[in-house]
Amino acid sequence: MSYYSQEKIDEINDTADIVDLVSRYVALRRTGSVYSGLCPFHQEKTPSFKVTPQRRMFHCFGCGVGGGAIRFLMMIEKLSFPEAIEELARRYTVELPTRDGDRPEAMGKVNRTAIYEILRQAQFFFAARLWSNEGVEARRYLASRNLNQNIIREFGLGLAPSNWDGLRQHLKSLGFGDQAAEQAGLLKAGRKSGYFYDFFRNRLMIPIFDLQGRVTAFGGRLLPDDPESSSSSKYINTSNTPVYTKGHILFGQYRARPFIRESGVTFLVEGYFDLISLVAGGINEVTATLGTAVTEKQITSLKGQARTVLLLFDGDEAGQAVPIKNLPIFLKADLEARVVTLPSEHDPDTFIRTFGADKLRKLARQAINIFDFWVDNLKKSYPDVLDPISRFKQLNEARMLLDQLPDQAKQQIVRRRLANLLEVDESTLNRTQFVPPLQLLIHSPESTPQTNRPATDKLALNLLSFILIHPETAEMVLTQMLDFWPDDPSRQIFDRLQKTLAATGAANLGTTNFDDLDPEIAALASQAALTPRFTPLDQSEMEARAYMNRLKTKWLQKRQAKLSAAIATAFAAGDEAEIRRLQIEKKDLLKK
Ligand code: UTP
Ligand code: MN
Repeated sequence: MSYYSQEKIDEINDTADIVDLVSRYVALRRTGSVYSGLCPFHQEKTPSFKVTPQRRMFHCFGCGVGGGAIRFLMMIEKLSFPEAIEELARRYTVELPTRDGDRPEAMGKVNRTAIYEILRQAQFFFAARLWSNEGVEARRYLASRNLNQNIIREFGLGLAPSNWDGLRQHLKSLGFGDQAAEQAGLLKAGRKSGYFYDFFRNRLMIPIFDLQGRVTAFGGRLLPDDPESSSSSKYINTSNTPVYTKGHILFGQYRARPFIRESGVTFLVEGYFDLISLVAGGINEVTATLGTAVTEKQITSLKGQARTVLLLFDGDEAGQAVPIKNLPIFLKADLEARVVTLPSEHDPDTFIRTFGADKLRKLARQAINIFDFWVDNLKKSYPDVLDPISRFKQLNEARMLLDQLPDQAKQQIVRRRLANLLEVDESTLNRTQFVPPLQLLIHSPESTPQTNRPATDKLALNLLSFILIHPETAEMVLTQMLDFWPDDPSRQIFDRLQKTLAATGAANLGTTNFDDLDPEIAALASQAALTPRFTPLDQSEMEARAYMNRLKTKWLQKRQAKLSAAIATAFAAGDEAEIRRLQIEKKDLLKK
């Protein structure tokens, strides 16, 4: 049993922002109110891992795992239940009752001072290995990357020996226990043996300093001669420890701070070596995210030091996606950011080594404001402004950006600017204007005159609009939903698509004609076709299935209710044969 009360547990689950938590480990993409990404718990190529902030849950439709923030942290960091609670409480500042005397020694009170000391000693140890005979190869490698002794020493680079317990033995000789070194992130305990061994082995070591200049974590890069180099990842990094949380600090910020203050700018790069290489090339005002998503904490830490952040990512598509994804963070932080675009075959490291610092600074002077960059990209992504669907999608993305701004005033300013650049009315970008074309149509008096036609099932319409926008799912839906489609105006659209499918083998906007239907129905069809219900292509089938299941359930429930009512009537009339017949029919329903 857990020590913490249910109320505490609920408080933690409520306070921990699950999207924020998960996005430290998984690149998430937002689709409406759901975020999706590649599941970190099994190997997959298409994202079936979903997070819904409203319900504060995650779920993988691939491997079936799911739960709340606590469960996620337990799984991803391999923590026990109380450990996950404590870690979340620490990250999201929830007060916990002290549990002194309540925990076994091994998890005992964390002595932060000891951990910092261990990390400092480890750095000395790694550096000494690099400058010893052992480090010949590693030094040769650094030289091949144009890094001289001064730079190597300035960054405190080192070398982790290749045996299993070089560091462990050294720390032991200094009087540090295995548990403490494990808490510092330097040792691991074997699963079965429980034996401790070095976490970093045969790697080039890069210490990460916090804003007080203390070593707080390490990154370890594979050496090119390592026989394992094809099988393990290029970098391994200290994971979260009592003195370090990934994504909370920027690499290089401690040493860059005076330069940033002086110039008012910082280049922001992605990698250890991009940063080191820039410094070697003569650019000191530079910080790095270390491959993780840019976080609000990191950006806020630059406020008051830098006026402008110069985003300097790889010239390829992935690199260019970084500023696009992170615009809201900069808008929220009120920090000016500009995007430096490198030639597509370069990263900051190769660029500065090839062309030098002056050329890089020259590029930086041409950097584009991150907001304009974002809008340009949006325009390029949906070039055909005359195509209503494409235009809807484009405007919807603009609206989603606005949704992410908590502050009304800011929203208004950004909305005005967006409306201007995208050449639409400001009101078009209002949420209320945007979501409900279907609802408006269904409920507005002109489109639903007082006929005795049943109201159109919104879910059915949503599914229709979905298959019109995702024709790849049309056949599946049209064949599987034949028996379950509601008997309302949308049925006529469904039937029409069905007929077209039978006749032409495809049912889409190009092959299907609705114009000869009742004008009201035809209008419903076109509205359905124009309401953006888009999903990445690789997820459309899953999305369609979700719609179908909901619609089918609804159909079954309605049908069941109808039969129950009929049974009640037959009962009142004492018609036993009819009762039996209806009961059998009801039973058969359950098999559908
Ligand atoms: P890069 O692959 O661009 O690394 O990843 P780099 O720093 O340019 O390294 P070199 O030039 O190949 O030596 C960018 C950053 O992403 C993180 C590291 O922080 C890296 O600096 N990363 C990358 C990892 O943490 N693990 C990996 O396996 C790869
Ligand atoms: Mn690189």
